[in-house]
Amino acid sequence: MINGKKILLCVTGGIAVYKAAALTSKLTQAGAVVKVILSESAAKFVSPLTFQALSKNEVYTDTFDEKNPKVIAHIDLADWADLILVAPATANTIAKIANGLADNMITTTLLAATAPVWIAPAMNVHMYDHPAVKKNIETLYNYGYRFIEPGEGYLACGYVGKGRLEEPEKIVSLAETFFQNRTGVLAGKTVIVTAGPTREKIDPVRFISNHSTGKMGYAIAEEAFKAGARVILVSGPVSIDAPPGVELVKVESAKEMHKEVFSHFEDSDAVIKTAAVADYRPKIQYEYKVKKQDGDALIELERTKDILFELGQKKTKQILVGFAAETDHIDEYAKRKLEKKNADMIVANNVSQEGAGFGTETNIVTIYKKDGFSESLPLMSKQKVAEKIINEVSLLIKDMSEYEDRECNC
Ligand code: CTP
Repeated sequence: MINGKKILLCVTGGIAVYKAAALTSKLTQAGAVVKVILSESAAKFVSPLTFQALSKNEVYTDTFDEKNPKVIAHIDLADWADLILVAPATANTIAKIANGLADNMITTTLLAATAPVWIAPAMNVHMYDHPAVKKNIETLYNYGYRFIEPGEGYLACGYVGKGRLEEPEKIVSLAETFFQNRTGVLAGKTVIVTAGPTREKIDPVRFISNHSTGKMGYAIAEEAFKAGARVILVSGPVSIDAPPGVELVKVESAKEMHKEVFSHFEDSDAVIKTAAVADYRPKIQYEYKVKKQDGDALIELERTKDILFELGQKKTKQILVGFAAETDHIDEYAKRKLEKKNADMIVANNVSQEGAGFGTETNIVTIYKKDGFSESLPLMSKQKVAEKIINEVSLLIKDMSEYEDRECNC
């Protein structure tokens, strides 16, 4: 998939520059055409000649060193690339791009770029945790830049923590997935996945929630992205990282999840609702910490909005997939949910079975579709279940597109 693809690698100055040399080599060996821009500080760690030898292309360092009088180098490079990688990306370069600065060959080229840009940060763990860096990353994320999260481990500054540039092999494999996605079964489609629990506030220190870890939803988001979809992952609080490439929208309560899902719903092709949304929330949510009293306490609860049900009422072309976590009467309850919520598919599991349900790496599910089709899958990893669900969803989207085409021709 990567063969012949044009990758512009922007290397900024940190000790991880040596890994960028390996990345250049691996991308080139995989068949990509790689051009490299080095920042002035990156060139202090590894010389441009190394990158020239590995990429077999000229290396750019200076905005004003115009090698070809017929073109303006930074515009030409920006237009040339199918994909731009900034690896390693220092805190300084991230800050500059977030603020629209164009003070060197890399930042100037990035401002002119329309190709997707993936940023792979590498820095000291405290720098990565600094609120200014976090804010800049968020700004860039909202501009559409995507991030390859740094790994955890021994850092060159002596600390152990998050901040290591992701391994070159992993970055190559992400780039391969990126190009594969353009031809995947869900290419051009937008899929919303909801995942994790919701938290319903009692007061500033207490909430009502459930045991969902988000694993199933995150696996589905990853598989949908691999199949080529634009993936919007609306997630309650979980402790796992979002798969690279998906657009993560963090929410806390059922109300926030409702708002985010509906704000993206119209343009989407499918909504997969793995989230364990709270059915009730405290009727009164206190702004101050409630002090304990002698004796028992009562919390009055009110219903939250049933997001899937409302989506079912409003859907036009969208495929709706719901999840049903049950302990008994699985078949009956799943079929009832399918109908009541006007869903196209319900994925049901018996959470009391070993190997199924919250927190496990595996799941045992039965898929129910509107046309009466049902299929019970054996114990599988959540990733395999996710792959199967995405296959089924892509078939349903295909049927829907064919139906819409037929309607149009009538
Ligand atoms: N769901 C939702 N909004 C809610 C509650 C649930 O969108 N407020 C979605 C879940 O994401 C899931 C499906 O609906 O896809 C689960 O259906 P639901 O009827 O809520 O299941 P349970 O919570 O198990 O309900 P019940 O107690 O009726 O079995």
